[in-house]
Parts: sequence; structure tokens; C-alpha cells
Amino acid sequence: MASDDRYPKSVRIVDVSPRDGLQNEKTVVSVETKVALIDALSATGLHAIEAGSFVSPKWVPQMSETAEVLARIQKTAGVSYPVLVPNLKGLQNALDAGVQQIAVFAAASESFSQKNTNCSIADSLIRLRVVAEHALAQGLQVRGYVSCALGCPYEGDVPPSAVARVACELQAMGCFEISLGDTIGVGTPLRAQQMLRAVADSIPIENLAVHFHDTYGQALANILACLQVGVAVIDSSVSGLGGCPYAPGAAGNVATEDVVYMLNGMGIETGVDLQKLAAAGRFISQQLGRTPASKAGLAFNTARDVSTGATLDTIVQSSDH
Ligand code: HMG
Ligand code: MG
Repeated sequence: MASDDRYPKSVRIVDVSPRDGLQNEKTVVSVETKVALIDALSATGLHAIEAGSFVSPKWVPQMSETAEVLARIQKTAGVSYPVLVPNLKGLQNALDAGVQQIAVFAAASESFSQKNTNCSIADSLIRLRVVAEHALAQGLQVRGYVSCALGCPYEGDVPPSAVARVACELQAMGCFEISLGDTIGVGTPLRAQQMLRAVADSIPIENLAVHFHDTYGQALANILACLQVGVAVIDSSVSGLGGCPYAPGAAGNVATEDVVYMLNGMGIETGVDLQKLAAAGRFISQQLGRTPASKAGLAFNTARDVSTGATLDTIVQSSDH
């Protein structure tokens, strides 16, 4: 039970690491590794894992094997495996792969829309409307993203009204949930609240999610601020992996381990097993040859290395409730 009425009792976490986390990796990540990551995440209690994208392989080569990944993962009951789709070709590939949920993505900034999808915001919305219509007709669920919700790498500040406008378009085309993306991680808590409130003026807060990259170390603070406004869906990436190829300088997403640690401490249910999650973060970090960017993940790792009897894992678990 939440210890404070200002916060939701439970939060749904959408782990985007297999897609947002890996799409920008320079070295090839094998299908086996992606499958092992998704299977490890499926065992943690997460309800949503963004498994990949059906975008142009010329634009994002790292995601070119999404169909093979989807064919090989062990799908767990109660877990959804959405994929990003930019156009009808991507939708057809997603349908062929048996996907049940797609995510369409638009931007609140013109320059980013051009760089990321090679068209204006208006044209992208026309394209996505057709995609959503076909997807819904096939019984798929459609999620929407608004990128550059707190800033654009090419234009700087983005007004909340521009975010709200695009979010409303996505809702009108049938998106069940709209994720507001701080693509380059420039947001700070009060600005995040202001942006979220501007969108929530038109769209029920239950249909909104937040998606923070952690470039300036503000992501957890921003999430806390948005929880206070009532959001209860959070995108994050195990081990803090991530970045967008068309958002230069952007850091990874907020780490799922850190989000779960914070929510556990606040008495907010996620259903996620933090130890299993930290193990998944350790696995993918080892595969990529780097230290986990998650503070909680690092603390768990350190605890494994010291032989003091009670490990930090045990201490954290027992102090959670
Ligand atoms: P385009 O070049 O204008 O497309 O790209 P086109 O329709 O002219 O097609 C060009 C070629 O690509 C053709 O092949 C098409 O068949 C092929 P060719 O005839 O030259 O051999 N093609 C495709 N192939 C496979 N799957 C497809 C597909 N579409 C076309 N779906 C397009 C336009 C939108 C396709 C391109 O710009 C694109 O794929 N962009 C995606 C970029 C991307 O994935 N960015 C990262 C995800 S967004 C993000 O990270 C932000 C987020 O995390 C939230 C946040 O943080 O804010 C979601
Ligand atoms: Mg992102």
C-alpha cells in the first residue's frame, strides 16, 4: 500500500531496453543476446517489454533482426511485447511476426521529426493515422510516443502546448496510452510537471506515461514529480541502456532498477523482483562490456562481491516493506 496519498498505489513499468536500450549500440548485439535479455526481463514480473522495432534497417541497423528475436523469445502470459512501427511496411512486418501491440512515434519538434522520420510532424501524423487505423482493424493495441517533450537537440526548448497538440492527435487516432518522451534528457522536475499537466488538461492521466532519458541525472527526480501529478506508467531501461541515433548527446533511459528501488521504498507496487532485474542488468552489461549505469544495479553487484554474510540484496529486500 502506498505510504502517501499523493502517489499512485501501483505503477506499470514499460522496460524499453531491448528497443530504446539497444537501438543505438555501435557494436552488433546478437539475436541470442537480445533473446536472453528479453527472457530474463520476462521472468522479473514486468508486464511490458518493448522488444524491438520494425523501422528501416538503413536508418537503424541494430533493430533489423526484430522478427527473429520475436520468433525466439519465450512469451510469458501477462507480458506484452510491443514493437515500434513507423509506417505501413513496418506494420506489415509486425503483423507477420504475430505482434499484438505496436507503438507509433511522433515528435513535438519539427527538426527532430525530420531527422528521425524524414518528414514533418503533420506528414508523420497523416502516416501514423493510417498505420493506427489498420492496426486497430487487425485487433492490435496501439501505443503512442511524443518525442522531444521537454527539449529538442536541434531547436532547444519545446513548449508544452506543442506536446499536448501531438499527444491529442495520437489519442484521436486510437492510441490507448501516450508516452511523453524527454528524448535528450534535459528536463527538470517543475518543467516536467508543467508539461505533463498541459497534456493532462486534454488527456486522462491514466492514458499517459513518462519516458525520461537521464542525460543530466534528472530522470528519477522528474519521475517523482510526475508521480505527484498522477502518472502511473513509467518507461525505463534495465541498466540505464539507451539513446536515440537521431538525438546526438542523449544518454540512456532512466534505469529500471533505480525506478523499482525508488518505488519499492515508497511502498508503490510494481510487481517487479529487483534481484532478478539486477541480474538481467548485469547480464546485458557484461554482454556489452560495460559497467551498469544503474546505481541500484551497481550496489547489488558490489554486495555480491563482498563476503560479509548478509548481502546488500537481503538488506534491501527486508527493509522494503
Ligand atoms: P524513408 O527513407 O523516408 O522511407 O524513411 P521510404 O519510405 O522512402 O523508404 C526508403 C527505404 O526504406 C525503402 O527501401 C523502403 O522499403 C525501406 P529501398 O526501396 O530503398 O530498398 N523501408 C523500410 N524497411 C523496413 N521496415 C520499414 C521500412 N520503411 C521503409 N518500416 C522511415 C522513413 C520512417 C522509414 C525512417 O525514417 C525510419 O525508419 N525511421 C526510424 C528512426 C528510428 O527508429 N528512430 C529511433 C526510434 S524513436 C526514439 O528512439 C524516441 C523514443 O524512444 C521516445 C523518446 O525518447 O522520446 C520512442
Ligand atoms: Mg527514448
